[in-house]
Amino acid sequence: MLLTGIFEVIFSKPLPSEASEEIAKLVEFLNRDYLKRGTRRPEDAATITEYNIESNVIRMQIASGTKVRLDEASLRIKNVLANSLGSRYRIGIRKLTLRDVKIILDTKISISLKLPFIRGVTEVNGKTVIELSELHEDDLKKPIFLRLLQLIEEKEKRAKWGGKAEHWMLLKASDLKIQKPIVIDPNKVLEEIGWMKRMSIGQWLYTPPLTHLLNALKRLFLDEVVKPLGFQEATFPKMYPLEVGLKTGHLKGVINSIVFASLPKSYDLSEFEELIDSMYVLNSVEPEDLQKYLKPSSYFLCFAQCEPFYWFFENEILDNDALPIKWFDMSGPSFRWEAGGIHGIERVIEFHRIEIVWLGKPEQVIEIRNKLLERYEYFMDRVLDLEWRMAWVTPWFYEQSGVVQEEVRSINIDVPGTIDFEAWLPYRGSREDNRNWLEIGNISIHGTKFTEPFRIKHNKGEVLWTGCSGFGSERWLIALLAQKGFNIDEWPKKFLEYVKTSPFPQSIMTVSYPKTREGKELLSKIISKLVW
Ligand code: SER
Ligand code: ZN
Repeated sequence: MLLTGIFEVIFSKPLPSEASEEIAKLVEFLNRDYLKRGTRRPEDAATITEYNIESNVIRMQIASGTKVRLDEASLRIKNVLANSLGSRYRIGIRKLTLRDVKIILDTKISISLKLPFIRGVTEVNGKTVIELSELHEDDLKKPIFLRLLQLIEEKEKRAKWGGKAEHWMLLKASDLKIQKPIVIDPNKVLEEIGWMKRMSIGQWLYTPPLTHLLNALKRLFLDEVVKPLGFQEATFPKMYPLEVGLKTGHLKGVINSIVFASLPKSYDLSEFEELIDSMYVLNSVEPEDLQKYLKPSSYFLCFAQCEPFYWFFENEILDNDALPIKWFDMSGPSFRWEAGGIHGIERVIEFHRIEIVWLGKPEQVIEIRNKLLERYEYFMDRVLDLEWRMAWVTPWFYEQSGVVQEEVRSINIDVPGTIDFEAWLPYRGSREDNRNWLEIGNISIHGTKFTEPFRIKHNKGEVLWTGCSGFGSERWLIALLAQKGFNIDEWPKKFLEYVKTSPFPQSIMTVSYPKTREGKELLSKIISKLVW
């Protein structure tokens, strides 16, 4: 990437002729030393390629790389000129302008022309030339230039890596435990026997029997994994202000999957009169009509479920005594708009999860992750006796924030990244085909991905990292039922014990529900064993 531009410095009065020798020396010093500071390779630094003096104006043609960028170089030049010429000739700087700025890229990218400062984008011989409008001193001091370059770099990487950046590397797999695979889809069974009913796309009501099973599984997970490691329960909001999503990166990365929320325009009921009248008479409500009464969305619904954790510690300064912090939240649902591929309660719009979060120094965060990993393995392997595997994958916090990750060639799991847990779903087909495995949970360390934007600090200046892990309740239950079926004799002992701690709730069986005769018969068969 090459940045070029003309930097114009206007002085309060004409420069005396004897200043030109001085300026030549300053340019030499700048090119040799000051504009190269902080870089190793000259192409990353800046160079004044040409300059001229005209009365009270110095114009410099600058070319730079991305370390000492054009804006940074301009400010350095300004400082040198002000310090040297200012006192000697009693002359001040009146105005700074950076004009004819061009960002020249070796690749083809597209960028919104609506962005401030962008004047035009052209393509010449496979290169992209982005022209900026004039920048003044105030603009140069803002990080706009930096952010623009970050955006361009991300776009370039995306163009280069395309879909390839997604990676998956097997870390560990269980024994092949299943001899006689069950070929029935538990999602279908649960719907057929009426334990759950679909309210709208990807959204379900779980009746008491299914809730009972989900709760048993959650309690078991808490007792076996979360609580022994000392995590404590917190209650996180489930609707977040937009700024939070700007900082976590979600608004940049997954805006197409986010569900947004709006507030009413007025609290005065009489303002809604027309709409209310029309509902009385027409007995319908059109979303387009409703929209007129709503403010633009200023919230988004819980997406990753750990967002409030980073927000809570924003601008806080932590000392060693406070660290590490280990919490979990299971106070409400997460929402994801999945355009296609919705299936039963495996892939939904609204789902439930136990979100485990932690914050500490890097070694603490890694150690907590390692302990969790051990307990997860024990939980999958011994407690639930599942056929499982775990893999080092594209980190969710890059994927969800639109940051492109380059290809990973070897595995060092002590760096920021994500480990996915997957279970085989025999009803989908053979275990050899990756499409027949379901991601049931993940565990990540994020490095400073969140402590930086939220400015979470240590009092002695040490680096702080975060980690999180999501246990998607519905998916774990589906994995268990897909591998063990609905015959409770096949269920893991510990799970059954938790299911049996209270009487099994009554299933809804009415004239019209469950819908089919087969469903009713299947339900009778399943519940005959669930009485104790
Ligand atoms: N927050 C993480 C995710 O969204 C873990 O639940 O995947
Ligand atoms: Zn998380």
